[in-house]
Amino acid sequence: MRTNFCDELNKKFIGKEVTICGWVHRRRDHGGVIFLDMRDTTGIVQIVVRPEAIEAFKIAEQVRSEFVLKISGSVEERPEDSENTSLTTGEIEIDCISLEVLNTAETPAFPLDQSMEVGEDVRLKHRTLDLRRPKMQLNLRTKSKLTKSIRDYLEKHSFVDIETPILTKATPEGARDYLVPSRTSSGNFFALPQSPQLFKQMLMISGFDRYYQIARCFRDEDLRADRQPEFSQIDIEASFVSEDDVMKLSEDMIKHAFKEVLDFEIKKVPKIKWSDAMEQFGSDKPDLRNPLRLIEIAEIFKEEEFKVFSDPANDSESRIAALVIENGDSIGRGQIDRYTEYVKEFGAKGLAYIRVEEASISGLNSPILKYLSKKCLESILNNLELKKDSLVFFGAGDKKIVNDYMSKLISRIGLDLSLLDDGYEFCWVTDFPMFERSSDGTLTSLHHPFTSPEEDDPKKLIKIDPIKMNSRAYDMVVNGIEIGGGSIRIHRNDTQKQIFSILGLTEEETKEKFGFFLKALKTGCPPHGGIAFGLDRLAMIMTNSESIRDVIAFPKTQSALCLLTEAPGSVPDKSLEELKIERKED
Ligand code: AMO
Ligand code: AMP
Repeated sequence: MRTNFCDELNKKFIGKEVTICGWVHRRRDHGGVIFLDMRDTTGIVQIVVRPEAIEAFKIAEQVRSEFVLKISGSVEERPEDSENTSLTTGEIEIDCISLEVLNTAETPAFPLDQSMEVGEDVRLKHRTLDLRRPKMQLNLRTKSKLTKSIRDYLEKHSFVDIETPILTKATPEGARDYLVPSRTSSGNFFALPQSPQLFKQMLMISGFDRYYQIARCFRDEDLRADRQPEFSQIDIEASFVSEDDVMKLSEDMIKHAFKEVLDFEIKKVPKIKWSDAMEQFGSDKPDLRNPLRLIEIAEIFKEEEFKVFSDPANDSESRIAALVIENGDSIGRGQIDRYTEYVKEFGAKGLAYIRVEEASISGLNSPILKYLSKKCLESILNNLELKKDSLVFFGAGDKKIVNDYMSKLISRIGLDLSLLDDGYEFCWVTDFPMFERSSDGTLTSLHHPFTSPEEDDPKKLIKIDPIKMNSRAYDMVVNGIEIGGGSIRIHRNDTQKQIFSILGLTEEETKEKFGFFLKALKTGCPPHGGIAFGLDRLAMIMTNSESIRDVIAFPKTQSALCLLTEAPGSVPDKSLEELKIERKED
């Protein structure tokens, strides 16, 4: 239908007759001359419809925003002073010869103008309009480029793309399963995969050596800006590999993608041990753009009378974390109160602070000074190497809670004081604990139950306190967001059984849930390992989007609803009868 895309047109086309197709982005009637900004997937070009083009002018008088048109005309240089430098086609315009309406459109629910702030619910409801916006077009194109560059890289390195089932059995990744009732096996359910974890391991047992898949995953969990109930993973597994092999390969893959898609050179990806990340950042997703760090100083409060500090200082499950902000004198009393309220939202009981007006004991100023000994204040000054005009916050209490709110405080102050460097800062987090204790006292896997412990000989493994056990897992983090995680796996049947048992699964449960997998492990399973990257999260970061929803064509809301199709929806009674499912009133 057309000779050119809008964005291709430039001064080289002057004098040529072209035909373009697209949507009316904007129509302006300049008393006698009508200007149409026409938009297609590539960009925008200006059309001038003069009264001399009698038929075309008559139609142009009727067209409105988002009408679909086919326009032919000759490319002309724009008159002096009417160039538009914000458009790549801003030096030219098309003098309309003929104009055809391919389709009309109702008045759009919102103007597609970039500068318009439109509520996300409205955008999601009218997604076909929203996706026409240049920013959304660019986001999805960038994601497509990313997928291509990843595929190219992996294919070049002998990885085989293999599909795994969507209707399957539960794979534990820490979320609830989405379930699908089976009609032919009534009373039973398929689970949608939280990841292809067990299948990719079974592909290693099947001898494929190197597998990858852009795999759709489903997780029924609390949603946030970087989480969707269905999302895609770049899922990778390889046999006869070590942690370093997988990390090197996936790091090179990510470097390749950033170079290819953004022309961005990733220089270094430091490795940080989990325990160091928790101590310094209070989080296993450190944002290395932020210069703020926590310093553990429980030791100096052990002998103090001030119970707020001495109790946690003498408890192995607690910590006291100091956060020093150089030139923190710019943070006023009101702001400190706001930070205190903020951390309380995450379980803090208070937020002690000390101002350093001068770098000496007499130069310290704080409501808690009166509770602390001179020796203690001296230790604070020395251990934290405090400088004039610094401000120190202290978080004391249960390790998990302190880490949670102090890491959030680091992020917030980093943003408030504009301390974050530009660009992307990557790191690996390694040496994770194998298990963590839930609030009910049971053990859960920090990654998943197929992750190999550092010691994988069952005879030796049994002698180690599970909570002190480390795993062979690794996560990749960029700018404080986890983009990928993986591990070397358990490849021995006896070790896998023992890990299930530590996790509290009975022999019967193990057999029922994972019998097929345990059997497969006995058929000659090679040592293997892998990783999965969140494709949508990567795309979100690469397009500087604030939400993962901006890189997914048809995403769900925070309450896991699709506003466009209004899914999930009700089903007729007949379908439920076929599935032998009874409705229960709330
Ligand atoms: P994990 O659960 O860490 O590991 O997931 C891997 C990566 O997937 C992304 N991700 C998500 N993205 C969007 N929405 C979600 N709800 C969501 N959940 C996870 C993250 C994360 O780093 N089978 C293992 C991988 C392995 O061991 O090889 C797994 O799924 O970027
Ligand atoms: P209180 O004795 O509870 O009045 O607390 C004295 C000071 O210590 C106040 O500045 C509180 O904000 C602070 N504070 C109380 N509990 C904690 C805590 N768990 N961590 C850090 N500071 C605290």
